[in-house]
Amino acid sequence: MKQFNEEVALLLEQHIGEAMPLEEIREAVEVPKYAEKGDVAFPCFRLAKSMRKNPALIAKELAETIQDERFDIVAENAYLNFFVKKERFAKIVVSSILEKAEAYGSSDLGEDKTMIIEYSSANISKELHFGHIRGIMIGSSLYKLAKYLGYHAVAINHLGDYGINFGKIITAYKHWGDDKDIEERGVRALLDLYVTFEKFSKRDEKYMEEARHWFHKLEVEEDQEAYDLWAWFKEISLKEYNRVYDMLGAEFDSFDGEAFYSDKMPAVHRELVEKDLLFYEDGMELIDLSDEGLTNVIVTTSAGTSLYITRDIACAIYRKNHYDFYKNVYLVGSEQRLHFQQLRAILKKMGYAWWDDCIHADHGLIMLKDGKLSSREGGVIFLEDVIKMALEKTLELINQKNPDLEDKEEVARQVGLGAIAYKELSTSRIKDYIFDWDEALSFEGETGPYLQYANVRAHSLLERGEGSLTDIDYSLLTDEASGHLVRELSSFEEVLEAALERLEPAILSRYLMSVAKLFNKFYQQVSVITEDKENTKAKLALVKATSQVLENGMRLINMEAPKKM
Ligand code: ARG
Repeated sequence: MKQFNEEVALLLEQHIGEAMPLEEIREAVEVPKYAEKGDVAFPCFRLAKSMRKNPALIAKELAETIQDERFDIVAENAYLNFFVKKERFAKIVVSSILEKAEAYGSSDLGEDKTMIIEYSSANISKELHFGHIRGIMIGSSLYKLAKYLGYHAVAINHLGDYGINFGKIITAYKHWGDDKDIEERGVRALLDLYVTFEKFSKRDEKYMEEARHWFHKLEVEEDQEAYDLWAWFKEISLKEYNRVYDMLGAEFDSFDGEAFYSDKMPAVHRELVEKDLLFYEDGMELIDLSDEGLTNVIVTTSAGTSLYITRDIACAIYRKNHYDFYKNVYLVGSEQRLHFQQLRAILKKMGYAWWDDCIHADHGLIMLKDGKLSSREGGVIFLEDVIKMALEKTLELINQKNPDLEDKEEVARQVGLGAIAYKELSTSRIKDYIFDWDEALSFEGETGPYLQYANVRAHSLLERGEGSLTDIDYSLLTDEASGHLVRELSSFEEVLEAALERLEPAILSRYLMSVAKLFNKFYQQVSVITEDKENTKAKLALVKATSQVLENGMRLINMEAPKKM
């Protein structure tokens, strides 16, 4: 908890303020990983320089001189370790959680700062397949986290709604399209059209010509028919995507995608010319990035059309002007690393000081273990189908284990989706990994259901206990199991900040797992509900605080918290 760090910093200032300014002390103060090393620690290395003394000796001397009733102070090598007195620790942590409740952990850290989280960025007329879940999960978690920490967060789905693909789809539609089929089967029908196009265009060049023709009509001639078809395909696709986003609890503030920037391209082009950044080769326009150690980038093709990167340049500039972002985060797979390196380098060359605030938060790939999941034709696996299957599997499990549970379908939804969310968000963003259903849905090991079940346990204790949780005697929370739990709960705020700063929800997911594990240990070691009313009340207050932290945290990693399961 920040409060303790600050107390320690101020206390130290009284003793070493002359050798080290408060700001530096604040920076140096840290929370040790292990409880045995204290709740707050101060390394004396920096002091050793200015005091010209051995750091271990400084620590020892300080431990002897500093007296404070709030802490036990112990020197260990070069470290001064502060242990918050147990009763006070429990009191401050538990009472602030209970008081702030759903808002516990939230802050105004990001006040007046806009953080753009671009994620999902789906390609219109193509399916959302299972692999897309990584970006969706990580992005929507970071978006929630940014909001929770007081940022003005903007979630953008930078739709892939521009390019020759639309020429292809329109061509296919004109030849083989069936309105009713498209209305009924949505993106699946569009995909089929796309496949048909590819098949025919291999045999006959004329189809590709037609596609180019339609694309030209769409982009240059502003032809009404082409535009209407494009808009319709987009509507069909978004309807389907939104269904999936809704299921996963993913929200967006804007769907401005590539097409949105098409009329902003001439201005970008002019700027590149004015800043003398273009060179010409084979009728193309390129930017030389060799001084950045990167390959050259084509920004205009010999046919005079813009490219993916050109639209991204326009997009970044638009976002800066429109949102005045503090950070502009792109949640996109690591296969596009070069693209974003190039984008940042170009913005830098254009003289935009904010190039460095454009961050590619790259993520790894996900694959499915269960072979049965690949479609018979070996084609793509729709994300929506996977989600539906998760819910069915979970319902089956509940029917086996707890057939009399109320609201089974709803709980199956919460648990099934929670299993996916936890698995996704506890794996480091950058890692590739293989998704295994049996592992994700298990109640054992580090899984979503394990986390939810710890919270269910807490709720059943709270239901069994009676009376209000006021006038608590916090000296009753100084036993070992309670103490460990209190200490873990105390770092929630710092964990949230670290997770957002490193754009890594896994930091939060793993933290919640550690809270759940400590809670289960506490549950085994401590009798919560006993004859002793005061003791019961104190323990229940800790149970309630634990459940609050679990629930606040789970919400931020896209997990719901069933009360029974
Ligand atoms: N639609 C692109 C794709 O699926 C991803 C877009 C990433 N965002 C961006 N601003 N380039 O590959």
